[in-house]
Amino acid sequence: PRRVFSGVQPTGNLHLGNYLGAVKRFVEMQDEAAELGGETLYCMVDLHALTINPDPAELRKSTRELAAAFIACGLDPEKSILFNQSQVQAHAELAWIFNCVARVGWMNRMTQFKEKAGKNREAASVGLYAYPVLMAADILAYRATHVPVGEDQKQHLELTRDIATKFNLDYGQPGFFPMTEPLIEGVATRVMSLRDGSKKMSKSDASDMSRINLTDDADAIAQKIRKARTDPEPLPETLDGLAERPEAKNLVGIMAALSNRTTAEVIGEWAGKPFSEFKPALADLAVESLAPINARMRELNADPGHIDQVLAKGADKADAIAAPIIDEVYDVVGLLRSR
Ligand code: TYM
Repeated sequence: PRRVFSGVQPTGNLHLGNYLGAVKRFVEMQDEAAELGGETLYCMVDLHALTINPDPAELRKSTRELAAAFIACGLDPEKSILFNQSQVQAHAELAWIFNCVARVGWMNRMTQFKEKAGKNREAASVGLYAYPVLMAADILAYRATHVPVGEDQKQHLELTRDIATKFNLDYGQPGFFPMTEPLIEGVATRVMSLRDGSKKMSKSDASDMSRINLTDDADAIAQKIRKARTDPEPLPETLDGLAERPEAKNLVGIMAALSNRTTAEVIGEWAGKPFSEFKPALADLAVESLAPINARMRELNADPGHIDQVLAKGADKADAIAAPIIDEVYDVVGLLRSR
């Protein structure tokens, strides 16, 4: 059976890229799993967030807010296992074992580390370097078979498969860990900055105008879309016409994802029309889609006690799956346990 796992870092607000590339897909997979069977586990990866040394009170707050955002987007604690990583010991335990499996040469190829560490790589934390190993542990602690993510996580999921392969081989346990499938699907696997079509939409971009946050109100959303960078041409007549126009392509992709259509369908509707007509329509659609999420998030944030209860229950359910797998791992690698 299919077991779906994914994680999001609790580091400030979710933006439209996180929503369209990940959380909206999580909800679709939750609803599919309810029909087809299998489980969906969605994790607030607070241990990963420590790699950027957040303020402790902020981290706790962001973790609760991310849980509220998940629920507001349509994740249902009765259908999916919603929890924060640090409440389930398996993640940190398996990460250490995987640190002893992964090779320095593999880690040195991780492009996201190079981007995040910047020029002064010597000063980066060991945690930031080992970050993708912890991701492999998140996934394999549940023997997850499918991981929905945006495109920027592709290399990390390849590393997860490399770690699983080497573990299975080194310990003579074929099939012990599954070859997890990344699910990088849909029209919004890489939502770009509204200010620069060559950069992805990101929490860390200095300009708030570059992204739409799920906490933005209707005015802010409309303004950001109105001011989004575009070229002066009208929308193209065919899909091919988007090839050299990253900003136009991005806005068409956003409209397609928000309205559950393909980019071809959106182009079919908007061929030859100017951005002065397209942008207000996109702003209306974005406001209409995000306003209910925004309202529900506010309600949920008013009751942190409820969120804590949801996360405690989720952690119990996650632990019930992961703990026996960790026991097997400890046996396989030869860690003595006499109690
Ligand atoms: P994070 O927190 O940076 O992002 C969460 C999810 O959002 C996707 N995403 C995007 N998708 C489309 N367009 C964008 N501009 C965009 N920006 C972000 C990301 O691809 C991701 O799916 N390392 C992960 C968290 C993680 C994880 C895991 C994921 C930890 N353990 C295990 C999967 C499985 C991260 O930092 O995502």
